[in-house]
Amino acid sequence: MVGAGPSGVYVAEALTREAARSGLDVTVAVLDRLPVPFGLVRYGVAPDHPSIRSIRSTLEQTLDAPGVTFYGDVHIGRDLTVDELRASVDAVVYAYGAASDRRLGIEGEDLPGSVAAPELVTWYTGHPDVHPDDGGVAPGHPWVPGLLASAREVVVIGAGNVALDVVRVLVRGVDELSATDMPDEVLEALTTRGVREVHLLARRGPAYTAFTTKELRELGDLADLDVVVDPADLVLDETSTLVAEQDRVASRNLAVLAQWAGRPSTEATHRVHLHFWTSPLAVLGTDRVTGVQVTRSAVDADGRVRPVGEPWTIPADLVVRAVGYRGLALPGAPYDESTGRIPHAEGRVIRDGAFSPGEYVTGWIKRGPTGVIGTNRSDAVETVVSLLEDVDRGVLVPGGHEAPLGPLLAARGLHPLGMAEWHRIDAAERARGQEHGRLRTTLAHRGELLDAADGPEPGGA
Ligand SMILES: Cc1cc2nc3c(=O)[nH]c(=O)nc-3n(C[C@H](O)[C@H](O)[C@H](O)COP(=O)(O)OP(=O)(O)OC[C@H]3O[C@@H](n4cnc5c(N)ncnc54)[C@H](O)[C@@H]3O)c2cc1C
Ligand SMILES: NC(=O)c1ccc[n+]([C@@H]2O[C@H](COP(=O)([O-])OP(=O)(O)OC[C@H]3O[C@@H](n4cnc5c(N)ncnc54)[C@H](OP(=O)(O)O)[C@@H]3O)[C@@H](O)[C@H]2O)c1
Repeated sequence: MVGAGPSGVYVAEALTREAARSGLDVTVAVLDRLPVPFGLVRYGVAPDHPSIRSIRSTLEQTLDAPGVTFYGDVHIGRDLTVDELRASVDAVVYAYGAASDRRLGIEGEDLPGSVAAPELVTWYTGHPDVHPDDGGVAPGHPWVPGLLASAREVVVIGAGNVALDVVRVLVRGVDELSATDMPDEVLEALTTRGVREVHLLARRGPAYTAFTTKELRELGDLADLDVVVDPADLVLDETSTLVAEQDRVASRNLAVLAQWAGRPSTEATHRVHLHFWTSPLAVLGTDRVTGVQVTRSAVDADGRVRPVGEPWTIPADLVVRAVGYRGLALPGAPYDESTGRIPHAEGRVIRDGAFSPGEYVTGWIKRGPTGVIGTNRSDAVETVVSLLEDVDRGVLVPGGHEAPLGPLLAARGLHPLGMAEWHRIDAAERARGQEHGRLRTTLAHRGELLDAADGPEPGGA
């Protein structure tokens, strides 16, 4: 497995289970470019959602199981080529996710003060890529603490669950955030943030958002916050009415929004304005963001969103683009630029127009950056079924490798981190948290993770 996020781990789980049923002797290597496993469960899921983050312990059980080995800190495409990896194992399963962001394609998108959601998310979850060991700023990465300290008014573009995560982190009280596992330096920066007003832009109407109801409702339950919804936006046209009748999530979301539209405003410190049918035309500013030019939008007969009416400006010191993620190419692996995915049929990778024996794909890099963690489980099963069918049909013939993986990594001078190291990091994070009355504090810097990996055994003297 190239990637130890949920999809790679779910393939490991399904493969070991199904192989045992059919009497196949399978060993599974789960590789990740980071020193620690769990992908977006650690570096995506919002810190104020501890129960979802605790899915980690289920993934941990699979990685700890006999026949499964975690190789952390091995970057495929850099430390080992895809060809070398393929030559050392019977089958490769690409499970490396979709870590980049979709572009808006509008003027000013790259101005200082305009950040993509993955940049903010990796920062607040403590991803080592954006927390360099010297405490500086990762090359090409915005200095998020500085942006947060100076920003009072923020525009968040997009109406999905990532947009909601970002809004919550921007407006939730420090007392509540202190109970999370956010790194110390992130908490510190959030303590001094100046954010007061957040404008969330949904380019389509309230019946078409990508929010799940539980996450939407949570916004209205936050302390010291008014959610502002224009009742006029909730008057549905004919098509929106049809959508609301047929889509239960849409109708539930509309009910939540209707409650908010009827609420009187209070003297709350924070306000979140939900702007429906509002599209960004340009991010404004010369040397940094000063606002977003927007327009009312509508949907064409062919389903395309188009601007209607006169543009106006929403002032902003910070713009967060939360319009979806995008998969990147892995050198040496097939890739479809138009979709940002690896081409496949039922998880069997298509290389140069034909099935490529021994190459499979799963998760976000297979189906695109949509779906909750559980979606990756059924997706992984589909891939494993294809793989085992290929063994049955003799398309995938096990054995006969020039250089088995473990010795190959050692010969390269690589020192992968395994699950023993993860358990030491885990213990160090819990200990760091407990020093400050928290359950856990994420170690954000690579150096800290490696030191903890070398540290004492959990429970040892
Ligand atoms: C911000 C955010 C919040 C989310 N919150 C929730 C939530 O609350 N609940 C929910 O159900 N779902 C949530 N999701 C969705 C969920 O996280 C995804 O469905 C899931 O993580 C996708 O799994 P994956 O394994 O395909 O990708 P990932 O989780 O991204 O895992 C990919 C792994 O591959 C590794 N990798 C990448 N390149 C290489 C390489 N070249 N060599 C080796 N390893 C590599 C990465 O380091 C990573 O560990 C969220 C998603 C995002 C973006
Ligand atoms: N708590 C949770 O369960 C949780 C938390 C976070 C993420 N996730 C999951 O992770 C996946 C990814 O979430 P996501 O929020 O990144 O993506 P998403 O669900 O695809 O939402 C993206 C949003 O961006 C909008 N958008 C796209 N292009 C745009 C443009 N050019 N201009 C303006 N708006 C644009 C989309 O609007 P249109 O619909 O008009 O295209 C949509 O509202 C989802 O499946 C999500 O459910 C789950």
